[in-house]
Amino acid sequence: MTRTGFPKDFLWGGATAASQVEGGFNEGGKGLDSQDCRPQYFNLSRQEKNSWEYKQMTSAKFEAAKKEAGIGNYPFRFGSEQYSHYKEDIALFAEMGMKVYRLSISWARIYPNGDDEQPNKEGLKYYKDLFNECHKYGIKIFVTMLHYAIPVNLMDRYGGWKNRKLIDFYVRYAKTLFENYKDDVDYWLPFNEINAGRFNPYNGVALIKDQEENYDQSVYQALHHQFIANALTVKLAHEMMPGSKVGCMIARFCHYAATCDPRDQLTQLHDEQYTNWFYTDVLARGSYPAYMDRFFDENDIHIQMEEGDEELLKAYPVDFVAFSYYFTQVSTASEEWEKTDGNLVIANKNPYLESSEWGWQKDPTGLRITLNQIYDRYQKPVFIAENGLGAVDVLNEDKTIHDPYRIDYLRCHIEAMKEAIIDGVDLFGYTIWGIIDLVSCGSIEMSKRYGVIYVDADDEGHGTFDRYKKDSFYWYKKCIESNGETL
Ligand code: BG6
Repeated sequence: MTRTGFPKDFLWGGATAASQVEGGFNEGGKGLDSQDCRPQYFNLSRQEKNSWEYKQMTSAKFEAAKKEAGIGNYPFRFGSEQYSHYKEDIALFAEMGMKVYRLSISWARIYPNGDDEQPNKEGLKYYKDLFNECHKYGIKIFVTMLHYAIPVNLMDRYGGWKNRKLIDFYVRYAKTLFENYKDDVDYWLPFNEINAGRFNPYNGVALIKDQEENYDQSVYQALHHQFIANALTVKLAHEMMPGSKVGCMIARFCHYAATCDPRDQLTQLHDEQYTNWFYTDVLARGSYPAYMDRFFDENDIHIQMEEGDEELLKAYPVDFVAFSYYFTQVSTASEEWEKTDGNLVIANKNPYLESSEWGWQKDPTGLRITLNQIYDRYQKPVFIAENGLGAVDVLNEDKTIHDPYRIDYLRCHIEAMKEAIIDGVDLFGYTIWGIIDLVSCGSIEMSKRYGVIYVDADDEGHGTFDRYKKDSFYWYKKCIESNGETL
């Protein structure tokens, strides 16, 4: 069979997350969530904002956040105000020809405290209206059910995902979503970047480091609970909505060995196993991989499983595998290696690649490699749930925004996707991250913009929040119209 490019029904789209785009943090009965509590210190330099101390949640920061009733220095509380602008945003997506919108539902909008008996009707209505608006234009819906933000009550009362009770609360939430949106949603994703539980436990599994006696143990136990919640969600979806599609997703950290020194090669194997494969092996193959036994033994980690857990994982693997892809990194056995930044991680720098202003290294070939590796390993359809460039954009007086750097970035990644499809990969969709400007997850600021649509707001939430089309908007429109041929 000769493949020449993107299949006819390829899903071109854009992605956002509720906590970063919606705003309206206390409107419509929404409860406070974990992302609403991440502060911004406006006067810090970019380097300081990229530091681990800045990104790390502490008990003191968390307690202070809960006392702030207004927006304060919490940019996720205003986002891009999609809560009040969703009709306008979706009309712009339709004008661009977008086939699919990947968005997340805010758990705290549906269950304000996470453990409530009844869902919040206003929250349910908000998403119903939003989905109807998408359907008006024939835009398909890809829902992330949990993109980092959990109701704070689930942290205060239960200690986050390390408590097995969260599985029940999550499954109740999933059931509510399926009951209400079974005819609206095309693709379901229970967890955004499930490997975040390891690389950023506050975002991933709602743990605060200074509250944990044995941090690593809590992290892996919490991840186990998410794996079980994932399997139960697949089970429920398939029972309630026969034929529905449920996927898993990781932040894909593609690693290259620094040299052909076998020690670098072994480090690369381990980096790939511990940061990537572990998660998708559990969720797509349906069991803990053998290589993790040694890792757990050597790190004194003991996962408590209940009877039936392993059978559940085996019986309910996902239907497709998704990932976010921004940059690649180097694996080396040497301690001395120049570092650079990546999403919520510090990475070893690759001397062959260019870096963005935030240090993330651009590598379209790595995307082609990744697509081949994932498809080859699981033989399940693959979806690129996030990819894009965070950059400082300038709104000119005539309201234009010239962003050739973003077009270059997107173009070379889309070319790599096409090559991977010709290689034989069953890639069925691509959603540009932050299709509309939103608050950056790592550095908690508007200035790091990903959108092809500009939002007129600054880091502190000042501005009109009016939307403007960037040059990349027109470029992506042509790309979609030509099914990826006019780049
Ligand atoms: C991904 C997250 O890891 O990276 C998104 O799923 C995030 O929520 C994206 O926004 C880009 O990271 P950042 O830090 O530039 O916003």
